[in-house]
Amino acid sequence: MEINDACFLISSTDVKKCPKPDKPEFAFIGRSNVGKSSLINMLTRKKSLAKISGKPGKTRLINHFLVNNEWYLVDLPGYGYAKIALNERLKWERFIREYILKRRNLYNLFVLIDSRHEPQKNDLNFMEWLGINQIPFSIVFTKSDKLKPEELDQNLKLYEQQMLIRWETMPVYFISSSITGAGRTEILDYIGNINSESQVKF
Ligand code: GTP
Ligand code: MG
Repeated sequence: MEINDACFLISSTDVKKCPKPDKPEFAFIGRSNVGKSSLINMLTRKKSLAKISGKPGKTRLINHFLVNNEWYLVDLPGYGYAKIALNERLKWERFIREYILKRRNLYNLFVLIDSRHEPQKNDLNFMEWLGINQIPFSIVFTKSDKLKPEELDQNLKLYEQQMLIRWETMPVYFISSSITGAGRTEILDYIGNINSESQVKF
């Protein structure tokens, strides 16, 4: 699948204010600073479609983009950023959970994991929660340009080992870099296939 057109639609503070759920939706989530907004810009080949920052916690709202006039792409706020006041963090987490559970046109959630880091409890717990709630998801290991190929392999093996403690099989995963464009074709083809196989007509 190729992206011919992508535009920003709306930032929402409330699930009720999101666009009408009339198209397939694909959302990107993960810890603050993992590279969600950068990945969205890489996929759409638009440098500043989603706002990027060196400071974690940049994306605070649910941001909807319309792609090819066919599907929604969503940039979600990062979770697990410790420097935000606890009550605000809890508020966001509730808001994200509500979005995930209530958004009935959500076809797939991409959970982003920094490929440099060891498996983190809050990511593992989050994916377990998705499993319990039967939310379809896949993993994107980001910032692969920052590792040597053998380091990347090593980290992926370690991650798979950790996942297999809780899961029968490793979920579908991708390896990406917003610098080199790695993973772009694979992720877009995956979205394209889900869209073409989908029986749901909005
Ligand atoms: P929040 O909105 O704060 O949750 O962050 P985010 O997950 O949207 O991350 P963002 O895309 O803003 O990127 C955070 C930082 O990581 C920025 O400095 C990016 O330039 C950098 N970054 C993101 N992706 C990559 C990548 O693939 N490779 C490298 N080298 N740097 C990246
Ligand atoms: Mg962001």
